[in-house]
Amino acid sequence: MPSGRLLEDSKDFLKKIGINVKEPANRELISYENGYTFYFPRAFDVPVYVENGVDIGICGSDVVLERNNEVYIPLELPFGKCRMSIILPENREISFQKMEGYKIATKYPEITKNFFSEKGLKVKILKLNGAVELAAKTGIADAIVDIVDTGNTIKANNLKEAYKIMDISAVLLVNRITQKTKFDFINDLINKAKNYKNGVKGH
Ligand code: PRP
Repeated sequence: MPSGRLLEDSKDFLKKIGINVKEPANRELISYENGYTFYFPRAFDVPVYVENGVDIGICGSDVVLERNNEVYIPLELPFGKCRMSIILPENREISFQKMEGYKIATKYPEITKNFFSEKGLKVKILKLNGAVELAAKTGIADAIVDIVDTGNTIKANNLKEAYKIMDISAVLLVNRITQKTKFDFINDLINKAKNYKNGVKGH
């Protein structure tokens, strides 16, 4: 289970496909319900757990791309929709093509490096662990690459979305061995998830 902003939607989604998630008591990180064991790492670490033995996980496609773990991703889930964008101070007008040599602060150094190097641009990346908007606001970075959802955070910090790098969604992750050894269970889960997703689209 992804701790943080995807947790509630993930619980609702699993409930709709017949899996009731119980949150752990106190500061515990594991819970048990109806024969399932649920783990609660940081969302950024979900792919690491799934690569290394946990059967199934949910996290954002941003995390999957950044972490690049060996996991099977059978489908996108119908929540956690947002985007990864280049963000600038409100008063700066510059296209990303002119950002050669720019200092870019981000929680996503791999995605940022790949984006700019695919465009043939060299940038300096400052890796931060959160509240990245502060780097642009204080001027320690020229721009940031971060998630934009409602846009409230950038607005509150006098920043603007300059360029969308990609759309983001929650995804289902499956361990590569589980996918083979528990094929029927995984297949059933994926079918239920697909039916639910199509139902959501149909509304
Ligand atoms: C994310 C992201 C932005 C914010 C965007 O941060 O890094 O700061 O949400 O959402 P908004 O467009 O709806 O305002 P999060 O709250 O996950 O925490 P973090 O800053 O510690 O990464």
